[in-house]
Amino acid sequence: MSRNAADITTGGRGALAELEPVVEANLHRHLRDTREWFPHQYVPWSRGRDFDGLQGGEPWTPEQSRLPRAARASLLLGVLTEDNLPSYYHILLRAFGERGPWSDWVHLWTAEEGRHSIALRGYLLTTRAVDPVALERFRVRQLTAGYRFDHNGVLQALVYTTLQEWATRVAHRNAGLASGDPVCDRMMGRIAADENLHMIFYRNVLQAALERDPDAALTAVADVLPGFRLPGHVAADFTTMTRDIVAGGVYSAQIHHEAVVAPFVRQLKLLGIGGLRPEGHQAQERIARYVRHLELTAARDIPPR
Ligand SMILES: [Fe+2]
Ligand SMILES: [Fe+2]
Repeated sequence: MSRNAADITTGGRGALAELEPVVEANLHRHLRDTREWFPHQYVPWSRGRDFDGLQGGEPWTPEQSRLPRAARASLLLGVLTEDNLPSYYHILLRAFGERGPWSDWVHLWTAEEGRHSIALRGYLLTTRAVDPVALERFRVRQLTAGYRFDHNGVLQALVYTTLQEWATRVAHRNAGLASGDPVCDRMMGRIAADENLHMIFYRNVLQAALERDPDAALTAVADVLPGFRLPGHVAADFTTMTRDIVAGGVYSAQIHHEAVVAPFVRQLKLLGIGGLRPEGHQAQERIARYVRHLELTAARDIPPR
């Protein structure tokens, strides 16, 4: 297979065309496995009441929020992350192209992610879990600032999206458990099930990319994995929210290692791929080095019991 220099680092047009049948097959699999659900059925509307302002209701005050700090921070970060969907849509269409099954997937994915923010916002406002004025200001600030994607090309985008969906699945699941509210837990479980199917889609396409050109795909993994951060990092108050999320055991270096990076490396058999050229070997070494580094960081992160 002939490749030019751009192909090696980004995957290039060749990768897009060659992976298209895999994308199409996985789009069909996704449509078969997913099921329609309705955000309004997950929101406990009976707990809601009018706010001040035009409705002349009760203003929001911090003591109205019943969610533990970690769950509140997670849901807030979750909805702000989903609010940036116009940017992700733009980035993915640029990486995957605006035609055929690739763009069909991006459109479907966008519709499903939008459902997550509708549910999350409905829950947060109805239960008065967060300040509604701050929530709206955060949203506007975030969209106005825009979102810059740290990576380039189809292969890096595939690695990033696989990791992102994997991490979001875990974070949403844990946030539901930390909420202490069965209604919230059910909603977060439903959203996490979507993230799981998104992860499977991206992981399967990445798997095909590894089979097609292991040197290029491993290089993309080695380039993206060590610097991976969730897209919500651009949110206002991100540092405080992250502190609460780690302290409450919703997400941490340990969880990132055990529930995301280790299974990602294991399931894709990244360290066992043979027949590589020097750049593929180098990429494998970089991945192995990062996993060891994360293991040590994670061990230090474990809170004393
Ligand atoms: Fe989502
Ligand atoms: Fe997702």
